[in-house]
Amino acid sequence: MNLPFKKIMTRYAVICLACAVLSFSLSADDGPGQAAIASAHYLATEAGHEILAQGGNAFDAAIAVSAALAVVEPTSSGVGGGAFWLLHRASDNFEVMVDGREQAPAAAHKDMYLDEEGKVNRDLAVNGPLAGAIPGEVAGLEHLARYYGRLPLAQSLQPAIRLAREGFPVDEKYHAMMKWRIDVIKRWPAAAEVLLANGEVPAVGHVIKLPDLAWVLQQVAENGVAGFYFGPVAERLVKGVQEAGGLWTMEDLAAYRIKEREPIRTAYADYELVTAPPPSSGGIALAEILNTIEPYPLDKLGKAQRIHLIVEAMRRAFRDRAIYLGDPDFVEIPVEMLTSQFYADGLRASISPDQATPSSMLAGNDQIPEGTDTTHFSIIDAEGNMVAATLTVNLPFGSGFMPPGTGFLVNNQMDDFSAKQGEPNAYGLIGFVANEIQPFKRPLSSMSPTFMMGKDRRAAIGTPGGSRIITMVLLGILDFMQGNEPESWVSLPRFHHQYVPDKISAESNTFSAEDIAALEAMGHEVEVRERPWGNMHGVMWNMEKEEVTAGSDPRWPSGRAIVK
Ligand code: GLY
Repeated sequence: MNLPFKKIMTRYAVICLACAVLSFSLSADDGPGQAAIASAHYLATEAGHEILAQGGNAFDAAIAVSAALAVVEPTSSGVGGGAFWLLHRASDNFEVMVDGREQAPAAAHKDMYLDEEGKVNRDLAVNGPLAGAIPGEVAGLEHLARYYGRLPLAQSLQPAIRLAREGFPVDEKYHAMMKWRIDVIKRWPAAAEVLLANGEVPAVGHVIKLPDLAWVLQQVAENGVAGFYFGPVAERLVKGVQEAGGLWTMEDLAAYRIKEREPIRTAYADYELVTAPPPSSGGIALAEILNTIEPYPLDKLGKAQRIHLIVEAMRRAFRDRAIYLGDPDFVEIPVEMLTSQFYADGLRASISPDQATPSSMLAGNDQIPEGTDTTHFSIIDAEGNMVAATLTVNLPFGSGFMPPGTGFLVNNQMDDFSAKQGEPNAYGLIGFVANEIQPFKRPLSSMSPTFMMGKDRRAAIGTPGGSRIITMVLLGILDFMQGNEPESWVSLPRFHHQYVPDKISAESNTFSAEDIAALEAMGHEVEVRERPWGNMHGVMWNMEKEEVTAGSDPRWPSGRAIVK
């Protein structure tokens, strides 16, 4: 081929340009060369690193960490529960949320927890098999292995199978939560037999073995989703649930599907935030709050006024959460409006610089229920793949019900629906129509796994904590924006406002007496709570410093952040 000189030079220039672009993108996407995992339990963090060392990527490690947490932290998550896994794939900068949220069984209906007088039977809504929605965690693990991982599912599940078989020591969180839930656990002999010690709360250090759970995980390792949603595990599950008064059928299990959801994206300062879409309320609420507060010169304000403005943004976002949000496959959600700067500008216009807006003066007065236990982990691998995952059985130890022969607890995620409009749940929260119970619907969640993506730093963050998840993640994001490290985000003193009840709640080390007096002078009620909340775990890749760091919430001693 005899090409004219000009054409040859043009082609050469195009090739050089392509090479330059490629080499730039290679250097940008080369990855940090180190991996970090931060989770609520050292055995789960170690399980993730074990799988990375075997050649797995962040998504394989996420399977290992999720499954290990399902064994060693049954108070917070499990194969009887659900999860959201937010993924960032470094090779093509692809992001997605894998929605493994539980869904209502076919026989569920909106009045299923009401007695003859129309009152909510709180016990049925949170304790025992009727409180359980069809679990999604196992389908999520299989999905991660099939579409994103590098190793076979069976390999990534091995650390969890080993832990279930060989046992794990009871930690402080297990001990504390079991003190609260022991009366419910005692109702179900299969649960009491393996989770208690001679019918009592096990001491810290007591070793729990879960051979039936090892068998369940082995079925999944050998057969994938079919090993859980069909066959002998499904039969044991359905038999156990039905004999104890629950509604699940084999068809309900067979009908469960993972959904991939496009994340919510919003910008703050020079960063893109990639976060959880519905059926989580977290991403929309975070976008709304951040859009509302961004124009404020927060750094230049006094502490009380800064808190006041953030609280007013929280109040408005939680009002919208109650009114608009539910399972997007069942309700129309005005996502574009709620996450727009224009809408947030309107909200800001209604905020007084120095006076609280009573929640009763904002249109709409509903709130949605949710639980207080759940777990979160964050991973970045050496290539720059990232996972932020929040997993849950809802309340500590879920519904307390263990189908005989399975070794795991059924969630009580049905209580994240609103059992009756205007009726408070166990935490004094009331619900709304967008989140009412319907067959196959997924209950609204607050779980907010989030990435912060910038030119200089990338990070993953999240925490358990019911409705407080959203405000904890918000405070963590703001601390990241200050240039601080994961250890700082996870340790921060916390405050929260959720529209109803109309008060700021705070950990005991958040405010001084002067801060509280200043907030009260602006019209806020401040409630200082004795017990801390949350269990945040974050990782960060600082590209400028070529450094990976990680932080594990100091509030619970079992949490562990390891960089290797
Ligand atoms: N069960 C807690 C949540 O999903 O928000």
